[in-house]
Amino acid sequence: MPDTLTKLTYQTFQQGKNYFGLAHKILSAQVMNLVSPSGRNTKPIPTEVLQKIQQRLDNLLEVDWQDAEKGIYPQSLLFDNPWEEFFLYYPAVWLDFPQIWERSKQKKYQDFSPEIDTSGYPSYYLQNFHHQTDGYLSDFSANVYDLQVELLFGGTADPMRRRILAPLKQGLKNFADVPPSQKRILDVACGTGRTLKMIRAALPQVSLFGTDLSPAYLRKANQLLSENPGELPQLLHANAEELPYLDNYFHALTCVFLFHELPASARQNVIEQCFRVTKPGGVFIINDSIQMSDSPEMLPVMDSFYETFHEPYYKHYTTDDLVERLEKAGFESVSTETHFMSKIFVAHKPV
Ligand SMILES: C[S@@+](CC[C@H](N)C(=O)[O-])C[C@H]1O[C@@H](n2cnc3c(N)ncnc32)[C@H](O)[C@@H]1O
Repeated sequence: MPDTLTKLTYQTFQQGKNYFGLAHKILSAQVMNLVSPSGRNTKPIPTEVLQKIQQRLDNLLEVDWQDAEKGIYPQSLLFDNPWEEFFLYYPAVWLDFPQIWERSKQKKYQDFSPEIDTSGYPSYYLQNFHHQTDGYLSDFSANVYDLQVELLFGGTADPMRRRILAPLKQGLKNFADVPPSQKRILDVACGTGRTLKMIRAALPQVSLFGTDLSPAYLRKANQLLSENPGELPQLLHANAEELPYLDNYFHALTCVFLFHELPASARQNVIEQCFRVTKPGGVFIINDSIQMSDSPEMLPVMDSFYETFHEPYYKHYTTDDLVERLEKAGFESVSTETHFMSKIFVAHKPV
């Protein structure tokens, strides 16, 4: 297909997802007000902020397209969408709403099904983040998570995740003499494995590893990654504060959408662990929410996220100096960039 046509197809595909996400949010808010009014008035986002959001979204899609054009990842990744999961689990998202609304209204934030074993997890983790049923600790939660995130971000979660791929490939250039299959990359808090799947598409030969604290999400990641013929997912159930790997083991580490869900002390512990297991000369890339320091004009959006969803550590995260934390752990040459609602930190371990 000629490039202009492919680009147009990509933009239309993304626009479709965006409209669907918007329609879903409007409709679910209306149904909630009808059947389970919360009595809480959410502040409308000012028009000038909405215009900035649109501009940031357009920029994200342009960078996403350009990176594919440059060959950082195959164009097919731009159209990768779990359609089967969508048709299978979209009704479940709606059926789950009444429980979510009830939990939100009653401010029940540690609500787990009785059969879920919650022992051994850090207390900060035992939360219904985003009011989700069973937090991160059930197969149901793992099955609907990606869809919920896609709906929340209007189909931009994957384009935002893909922003780690260019700095990742750049960082690996430090190990040009290492054969690709001997380069090891760890995705910390890999969730359902979407980031690992993208890394695999961009770097077909590297050795991939993933850890997460949720056995259910790891099972889901195993299922997703195993779809790739020949893949043997190296997934480990582990707290990112205590990574079960040798010192200086990985050539690169990534971590997507974890830090805003950690209390400050855990953020520092995770960074220190990531430093420990990164090889000298290796790169560590964090991808998380925008912060006040780089996007003060997005304050109404950050406030709305914090107020609408149960995200107990998000507010502190938005003002936390992660560059200082990375440098405190020993990383150097830390750079940052923002893409739509995400912020990337690229940190290097000295040689
Ligand atoms: C918002 S999700 C992000 C998942 C995935 N990286 C993505 O891009 O969708 C946060 C993930 O962090 C995991 N998590 C939270 N605290 C953790 C910890 N201390 N150690 C390891 N994983 C953790 C959760 O189980 C969940 O899978």
